[in-house]
Amino acid sequence: MSKKFNYHGLIAMAAISLFACNNTSQQTDSSDAAAASQTTADAATACVSALEKKSFEETIDGKTTGLYVLKNNNGACVAITNYGGRIVSIVVPDKNNNPTDVAVGFKTVKEYQGPGDAYFGALIGRVGNRIAKGKFTLDGKEYTLATNNGPNSLHGGNKGFSAAVWDATQPNDTTLSLSYVSKDGEEGYPGTLTANVTYTLGADNSIRIDYKATTDKKTVVNLTNHTYFNLNGEGSGTILNHLVQINADKYTPVDATLIPTGKLEPVAGTPFDFTKPTAIGSRIDTVNNIQLKNGGGYDHNFALANAGPALHDAAEVTGDQSGIVMNVLTTEPGLQFYIGNFMSGKNSFKSGAKDDYRTAFCIETQHFPDAPNQKNFPSIVIEPGKEYTSTTVYKFGVKK
Ligand code: GAL
Repeated sequence: MSKKFNYHGLIAMAAISLFACNNTSQQTDSSDAAAASQTTADAATACVSALEKKSFEETIDGKTTGLYVLKNNNGACVAITNYGGRIVSIVVPDKNNNPTDVAVGFKTVKEYQGPGDAYFGALIGRVGNRIAKGKFTLDGKEYTLATNNGPNSLHGGNKGFSAAVWDATQPNDTTLSLSYVSKDGEEGYPGTLTANVTYTLGADNSIRIDYKATTDKKTVVNLTNHTYFNLNGEGSGTILNHLVQINADKYTPVDATLIPTGKLEPVAGTPFDFTKPTAIGSRIDTVNNIQLKNGGGYDHNFALANAGPALHDAAEVTGDQSGIVMNVLTTEPGLQFYIGNFMSGKNSFKSGAKDDYRTAFCIETQHFPDAPNQKNFPSIVIEPGKEYTSTTVYKFGVKK
């Protein structure tokens, strides 16, 4: 652990100049200079990640990508690129007040475009998770999507929202607004979909993600964020000792291609019972559990208790070494709990650590997978004139 913090300390100076470049208040007049420099100093102390802004500056599809940094006065900062709306880094204090980067990610936009990417940090759309056989029917018309994951369509197809360059506006130090217009027929989906996503860093070290979308034709939409977390810090090894609590009495079992069977099964008495804080790895090797076999571990949608239109508590995860606690609140009915079963160990993250098997986990708040083909699941159909909205909050604190 101390090695990691020393490493971070060494690069703190580089980070300070990066964050100064991104500080919008400093680009205003000198009357704000003292306050702005105080803000920068506080955040820069916390934001000790080895990111170079210019490694995120590319022209892709005729649009410019860059790195945007949100920071507060409470030791937190978040770096986001508008390539795929991806969270690259989240630095928050651990139980000893050491700045810790809890989001894994790459240090260049090129790596996010390369074969080693597994949707790291990305906004996912038009439809998160899988659609069976890449087909669904709407008003009697069948639509065909790319089958980019075995027989199924995954995370929006060959070029989903994770590979789009979003238009970005950063009105202040704590807000980034992104928008993307997905054309009628893009990746096989009907209707022009205009998506707006706002990331807001709260003074309480929460990251709030507000999603909105409108369409000009009936279509389907299910947006999420695919950040991979390691609450002990990127490069701290397995996440199997993290404690997880998920407020779900039921989950949706899957077949061998990870498509839900359509049933909602109770978690009670199974390795899927996370209703009390439980180490991720404590039941991972349960013999003869067909669901753990089908998922290659946990890679399942949990049906959240208390789901409703308001924000509700969905999950709490604690880093066993760092004491960092992440609370997840959402307006969504489900979350995909994925524990990095496909992480290959072939690629290097920004700290130099490899993307080793199960060294990060995702909590992707969303409607249930394959919803367009599952009549018992909450619908993801939207119509012209009706706005799609969704909010998720990831809030970071510590347990001593
Ligand atoms: C998750 C999905 C996994 C895997 C991963 C990306 O959302 O549940 O099965 O596809 O994305 O590697």
